[in-house]
Amino acid sequence: MTINILVTGSSRGIGRAIVERLDCDDVRVVGHRSSAAEGDDALVADLSQADAPARLWQAALDRLDGRIDVLINNAGVFEAAALEAPDTAWSDAWARTMQINLTASAELCRRAVLHFQRNDGGRIVNVASRAAYRGDSPAHWHYAASKGGMVAMTKTIARGYARDNILAFAICPGFTMTGMADDYLESRGGDKLLADIPLGRVADPAEVAEIARFAALQAPASMTGAVLDVNGASYVR
Ligand SMILES: NC(=O)c1ccc[n+]([C@@H]2O[C@H](COP(=O)([O-])OP(=O)(O)OC[C@H]3O[C@@H](n4cnc5c(N)ncnc54)[C@H](OP(=O)(O)O)[C@@H]3O)[C@@H](O)[C@H]2O)c1
Repeated sequence: MTINILVTGSSRGIGRAIVERLDCDDVRVVGHRSSAAEGDDALVADLSQADAPARLWQAALDRLDGRIDVLINNAGVFEAAALEAPDTAWSDAWARTMQINLTASAELCRRAVLHFQRNDGGRIVNVASRAAYRGDSPAHWHYAASKGGMVAMTKTIARGYARDNILAFAICPGFTMTGMADDYLESRGGDKLLADIPLGRVADPAEVAEIARFAALQAPASMTGAVLDVNGASYVR
């Protein structure tokens, strides 16, 4: 049977690597991005907009002939908000990061669970972050909070719907060599930061993609609720 998968944030970075890794027989993948780009047939939805998750879910169902088996929530932003910023700027940054990273993911998860309940089950893979456990920089309270929320939500879904054959996994990458990590590494002194990673290097998007593929297609049902770290032992729980 063909497995139908929706991957959010597949235009670049980890999302693109996930779509490439899922390119195999018996899997049909629909990607997604925030705005249209020539030559890319990914679905378009700006997840900072409140109505976007519902529209995206429906568009994915339409594209996949009415059945989605796996939802991979990968889209996310890592935008700084300085403690000293004006009140409105700090609050707006908080709300935007929460909307894109957590609320939009939650709304897609909710639609997925309701859909899976009607279709004998399915899987959710949420790309969270090491920041969920370790925290992040002083300019990223919102980012760490959004990812902590994502992990808690994933565990809740795993516990709530395992009996419906609905499985949920979270992946927590540390630094991964994408545009998001590039900017951050540069801003935090490059090599000095690498010294904090016992493996001596940041993760490759392909490594995160391999774990996403495993969670989406192969992980045994008893693993539901697992949080999978990909951080070169820079944070060991
Ligand atoms: N890279 C890391 O070091 C790292 C570490 C831990 C966790 N993560 C997590 O891994 C995921 C992917 O990260 P990445 O490094 O691959 O990021 P990236 O290269 O910056 O790509 C982000 C993806 O999210 C999409 N996106 C951003 N804002 C959006 C919006 N408003 N609406 C819809 N889509 C939006 C982007 O689409 P457009 O191109 O259309 O904007 C893009 O496809 C994120 O959830 C991130 O928090 C990354």
